[in-house]
Amino acid sequence: MRAPGRINLIGEHTDYNGLPVLPMAINREIILVAAPRDDAVVELHNTNPCFEPRAFTISSDIEPYQLGDWGNYAKAAVQALHRHFARDVSRLQGLRALVDGNVPMASGLASSSALVVAFALAFLNANNLSMEPQTLAELLAEGEQYVGTRGGGMDQAVCLMAQAGHALKIEFFPTRVEQIPIPPGYSFVVCHSMVEAPKTLSARRAYNVRAAESRLAAALLGKALSRKMQNRMVAIERLGDLYSTDLHLSEAEIDFLLQETFLKDNYTLGEIAYMLGASEDFVCRKYLSAFSPEEARTLDRLKLRSRSRHVLSEGRRVRQAAEALRVSEMNEFGKLMYESHESCATDYEVSIPELDALVAIARESGALGSRLTGAGFGGCTISLVENALVEGFVRLLERSHSRGGDRTEKGNLTFDDRIFVAKPMPAAMVLR
Ligand code: GLA
Repeated sequence: MRAPGRINLIGEHTDYNGLPVLPMAINREIILVAAPRDDAVVELHNTNPCFEPRAFTISSDIEPYQLGDWGNYAKAAVQALHRHFARDVSRLQGLRALVDGNVPMASGLASSSALVVAFALAFLNANNLSMEPQTLAELLAEGEQYVGTRGGGMDQAVCLMAQAGHALKIEFFPTRVEQIPIPPGYSFVVCHSMVEAPKTLSARRAYNVRAAESRLAAALLGKALSRKMQNRMVAIERLGDLYSTDLHLSEAEIDFLLQETFLKDNYTLGEIAYMLGASEDFVCRKYLSAFSPEEARTLDRLKLRSRSRHVLSEGRRVRQAAEALRVSEMNEFGKLMYESHESCATDYEVSIPELDALVAIARESGALGSRLTGAGFGGCTISLVENALVEGFVRLLERSHSRGGDRTEKGNLTFDDRIFVAKPMPAAMVLR
């Protein structure tokens, strides 16, 4: 099995909000070799000695290892597939798997989804089962929430549906994809901040808070809309639902609704409950279920206005960027990348000084565009550079990296992970 990592060209934190993304699968991948076992045990080995062997029995209800354990990615895939097939297949078989790979971990390049996809394909293969890539992507997007992060569906979808030479525009709920060729003559250069952001550990809470803020903002905007429409029931579950065709809202009307509804940026849980006409307990149960009740009570400065502003403007930028890519308007594409970074940094607050510095260096060095990629809080930037200028650009980045010294927080990143040119690769596949 080979399953690629990805860079996201634009559209950050839009997927779980029901708005589009534009990623591309890259030339960094998870490789997994597997053989079926004749019992119901999944046995895992890793060529990296930091990851100890694991073994568990397949079922529809698998107890997770502790947070951050690599075995949880296999458990996530197996549990999701078991739930899906248990009714129709009388006996699902286990397997023995050995994992290797070069997708830098905790770096915003979707190594975890590549791992989940690789396990899923191995499990399907061991049981002579198959699934449509789109259905599998949706199943695994939900299944991966098993690891504790309330992620969206971008990473699994691009890993399973990418085409060589193309970026993939993805819309969600339900998943729809469009392949857009990347014009020859341009490259995306990946540069690592050398700060790791493990989404199942330190970055988990920050990620889940953003997802909760977005859902609360959507609920409040829905409430405001329904008041405007003489109490007609308007169900806005995600910010992207504001574009639902039966609402007929223009961009200007959506912006106005935002201004009218959020008169300030920070809200306490009590204020939100009051505005929703619900109890704090209800709000915690319905919107903050990713947190323990004690944790939920500590969330008292929920930033609804700036978070919605990022998500809605980012959705627009993805549409504009997809259009620019279709007609090879790469200057326009780059401009949207810079704007996206700015919005991620100031409104969604998922950047860090190291990423901002890399984007500034890229701008000074003449990159057409540059931004953080993936969830943020660490990880990488990507910069759009004309092919003829890539060599010089990489040299400049290398110099700034050596000035900053080696800032690896953990020993997981190698020298080759610092800077590399990403190539648009095809989706995950079974190799025989
Ligand atoms: C992570 C998640 C994705 C997406 C990005 C942010 O990579 O897995 O679903 O939300 O963060 O755009």
